[in-house]
Amino acid sequence: FPRILAVDPWNPDPKAIGEAAEFLRCGRLVAFPTETVYGLGANGLDPAAAAKIYAAKGRPSDNPLILHFSSPGDAESAVLVNGRARRLMELFWPGPLTLVLPSRGVVPREVTAGLDTVAVRMPSHPVALALIAAAGLPVAAPSANSSGRPSPTDALAVASDLEDRVDLVLDGGPTSVGLESTVLDLTGEQMVLLRPGGCPVEEIEGRTGGQVLRSGGNVRRSPGTRYRHYAPSVPLILHDGAGAREKALAFGGRIAWLGMDGPEILFAPGETDGELSLRFSTPENFARGLFHALRVLESSGASVIVAQRPGNEAGIALALRDRLERASSGEKNSGLEN
Ligand code: TXA
Ligand code: MG
Repeated sequence: FPRILAVDPWNPDPKAIGEAAEFLRCGRLVAFPTETVYGLGANGLDPAAAAKIYAAKGRPSDNPLILHFSSPGDAESAVLVNGRARRLMELFWPGPLTLVLPSRGVVPREVTAGLDTVAVRMPSHPVALALIAAAGLPVAAPSANSSGRPSPTDALAVASDLEDRVDLVLDGGPTSVGLESTVLDLTGEQMVLLRPGGCPVEEIEGRTGGQVLRSGGNVRRSPGTRYRHYAPSVPLILHDGAGAREKALAFGGRIAWLGMDGPEILFAPGETDGELSLRFSTPENFARGLFHALRVLESSGASVIVAQRPGNEAGIALALRDRLERASSGEKNSGLEN
């Protein structure tokens, strides 16, 4: 098990942060909370340190990492920032928005996976900001899960996935957004959504007056979206899929339910397991609790999970639908997740 250091999420102890920052400067791996999910951090300018991230996660080496900064100005050392990008940084940083921009060429290929672009983000979590600032480095960090597992939203999930392949885990409690950042490609004429996430697309459009091209069909996608994601070890069925109830009943055993409504919208009384039923009062709460719920249900004796897909795509619901669809896609996808 890795070393876990508890820190106050709002007012982290500078001594603990200083120690973690020293680890990063020495080329070691530090997991830390962001407002979205926990990240597995390394010195983003050190090829050997970045390579350790791929080994620790079992991540395919062609899937680039996000570079994290503690100020918009610092991001300009790694990428070319045009007016539109600067405006987005002003509007949404710090926060769950990642911007893909042309690389200045100083970021090693171990981070960019050989692309001529870099994904940059300034998280809003006080622990993340303090750590990055104290390290004095851009911090490369994917989600701190092992490949094929749901992203971690607390320190225990990080530790149980990565064990001693991470040198230190800063435990700042559960994360608040619960799903990863929105990834927006700004390298072309149009803003392109590569991954829906914590920053709602309609907010980006509303506040910039520009249009965001949704990924789909022939739109270029983020390398990471090619891989299978968030696959729980217990099969997951979407409540509105064809024959969902019959499929779930065919598994037999204990049927778990996740949704904003209760299981009675699909099942007769007693068909699902009351102990394994989770209801969330809002899409925000569903998003916050989803990955933790998947991990809990995996080890709870459930034979199958039936999840209610939000009926709309407003706000966080777009990202929530995306993660539920990926978790349910099972064998349809091949390869590993990021
Ligand atoms: O919320 C988050 O973004 C979390 C926290 C830790 O910041 N990080 C995260 O990282 O989710 P990861 O590695 O699990 O997902 C990063 C995504 C992947 O889909 C990757 O392919 C994409 O961003 N990405 C990274 N660099 C890219 C680039 N240059 N061009 C296009 N996509 C890129
Ligand atoms: Mg990930």
